[in-house]
Amino acid sequence: MSEPRRARPGDIALLVGRDRKRRLVRLEPGETLQTHKGVVRHDDLIGLPWGSRVLTHMGFPFLLLRPSLNDRILHLRRISQIVYSKDAGYILLKMSIGPGTRVIEAGTGSGALTIVLAHAVRPDGRVYSYDVRPDMQRLARKNLRSVGLEDVVEFKLRDVAEGFDERDVDALFLDLPNPWDYLHQAHTALANGGFFGSILPTANQVSRLLVALERASFGHIEVEEILLRPYKPVAERLRPTDQMVAHTGFLVFARALVSGTAVAPSPDETPAATEPPEEGEDDVP
Ligand SMILES: C[S@@+](CC[C@H](N)C(=O)[O-])C[C@H]1O[C@@H](n2cnc3c(N)ncnc32)[C@H](O)[C@@H]1O
Repeated sequence: MSEPRRARPGDIALLVGRDRKRRLVRLEPGETLQTHKGVVRHDDLIGLPWGSRVLTHMGFPFLLLRPSLNDRILHLRRISQIVYSKDAGYILLKMSIGPGTRVIEAGTGSGALTIVLAHAVRPDGRVYSYDVRPDMQRLARKNLRSVGLEDVVEFKLRDVAEGFDERDVDALFLDLPNPWDYLHQAHTALANGGFFGSILPTANQVSRLLVALERASFGHIEVEEILLRPYKPVAERLRPTDQMVAHTGFLVFARALVSGTAVAPSPDETPAATEPPEEGEDDVP
């Protein structure tokens, strides 16, 4: 059996106490972590296998874990609203983003979605991330560097009204307030049939985007929303937590059609594409 992997100096560690509060620390020899349950010396953590139980000087237990990418994103410094993990994971599947994909996103913001995209497309794919604000891209670059993904991303400081440099990209995601203004630019950058996605906080923004998509040679349009309800993991009293994030944004997906082939749905058409297929309907020959 292989040796369990151990915490080393410089590693980022996740410490979780009984209160479920998560603390992220970079392990540095000689440093200490102060908690309200007592002090943990980094020297006592360095060398331990991940998954160990450790005690503070007051005898309170903490778990020593390697943080997930989600833990890292939750602890990022941010100066913008970010795409939440529940949405980001679904975006990857809906837009078929994986190793080797070339994907454009705008705006970069704090880089939360950029991290998810970069993690998915590596090692051979590429993320082209546009934002008009230099402070956003400085922070996003720093955040990407902190998780070791900076090399997968090309940052471009530009108003996307001026267009994208890339052509024939597999996927393009817009997280900015007025995506309807940039559909021509998006269509020009996307490969025929390429994946378009956007996230918007309000329903009236979605309506506006729908009208524009139908006019701009996009088809197979879907509007969806992801609700995530966390539970208190207590076996005898299993129940949802008292509070949840009730709304992040509406997700809009579409495909870039060959120009001139857009088909507008009739107003009373039901969104059949988002309903589960009838038995046999989705059989692929
Ligand atoms: C909500 S933030 C994006 C958050 C990001 N997806 C994340 O997960 O961290 C929106 C960003 O869009 C940028 N933006 C707005 N309009 C833009 C435009 N026309 N061109 C480029 N960037 C734009 C803003 O500067 C802002 O950083």
